[in-house]
Amino acid sequence: MFPGTLSGGVVGRALEKKIWSYDTINIRDFAINNYGSVDDEQFGGGAGMVMRPDVVGNAIDSIKNPGKIIFFSPRGKPLNQQMVHEYIKNDTITLLCGRYEGLDQRVIDEYDIEEVSIGDYVLSGGELAAQVFVDTAVRLLDNVLGGGLDSTQNESFEIGGLEWPLYTRPSVWRGHKVPEVLLSGHHGNIERWRKQQSDEITKERRPDLIKEN
Ligand code: 6GU
Repeated sequence: MFPGTLSGGVVGRALEKKIWSYDTINIRDFAINNYGSVDDEQFGGGAGMVMRPDVVGNAIDSIKNPGKIIFFSPRGKPLNQQMVHEYIKNDTITLLCGRYEGLDQRVIDEYDIEEVSIGDYVLSGGELAAQVFVDTAVRLLDNVLGGGLDSTQNESFEIGGLEWPLYTRPSVWRGHKVPEVLLSGHHGNIERWRKQQSDEITKERRPDLIKEN
């Protein structure tokens, strides 16, 4: 599953350039029996299997320098851009990908693991979530994006809302014109127009992003 989507685009190029690197561990290598089981029934009854603490604990202990450990789970704190900016201050992060119904709580407590979700829907495993996380993190590292220092500055969420509509050539396409103001060369008017568009779209689609002040 790795590098999966992380082998392409700017993140894949950064991997080739060794701006970031990763190791994978197969938890199954730490199974407690010859069948390779890593999960078991949950105490208290109920459907769904739970990842065993002994197996996962041994897997984590095999890592020389785990750094902060993040467990990807729909129960986690919803990931946002601000959290990613905080996480990239760490040199090393361990990403634990859940399968089955979840992970024994004692592992989470023992290693002070942070639980992170990537949205209000359920994936069949944490691997895709981990790749989403790595993509958002790596593109913020120095020398990953072209376009200079401020190429992330005007993006959705970095500007406190959603980005304004974008246009490129041709200036007329199938009879549809690019908004006049963008062709005017008047930077003040362009900036005001973008801010107003951004505010409008954010209010309509993501009122939760609007800070009261
Ligand atoms: Cl991080 N894992 C799984 N399994 N499902 C999710 C998720 C994570 N985030 C949203 N849904």
